[in-house]
Amino acid sequence: QIERTLAIIKPDGLFGNHTDAVKKIILESGFRILKEKIVQLDQESAASFYAEHSARSFFHSLVQYMTSGPVLVMVLERDDAVSGWRTLIGPTDAIKAKITHPQSIRAMCGTDAEKNCVHGSDSSQSAQREISFFFDSMPSGLQDIEH
Ligand code: CMP
Repeated sequence: QIERTLAIIKPDGLFGNHTDAVKKIILESGFRILKEKIVQLDQESAASFYAEHSARSFFHSLVQYMTSGPVLVMVLERDDAVSGWRTLIGPTDAIKAKITHPQSIRAMCGTDAEKNCVHGSDSSQSAQREISFFFDSMPSGLQDIEH
């Protein structure tokens, strides 16, 4: 079933110059990048995006991290896009990913459980909310690329 999901290359991914390598994997894995833009999140928008984690001990640090620099957000389309992208990025904790999923994107460019380089929606409902968050309620980015 053709689906859409939201992918984010986080500030550590952009600063670490991993964008081209990640996009190469995306395209070679059969995804179409329907939309993309570079966004600088502010504290309010980062907190709102990650609202489901607001009670977690790492929430404040997560918001600091996600606002520490620009992010690249992309709408990906493919058969089984949500779980397909989650499989490619690997486990949340990049330290564990390097051991258990060494070929995964987080193993390649992530650092730890927080600085894990990339995001992927965890369900098709999350994907709809997250795509709309970035591309409907926050229409302009630092750089918008329409495909
Ligand atoms: P992401 O998949 O974008 O969704 C929630 C984010 O919270 C996650 O990636 C990490 O960046 C961060 N996160 C998840 N678990 C932890 C943790 N145990 N410690 C610190 N940050 C975390």
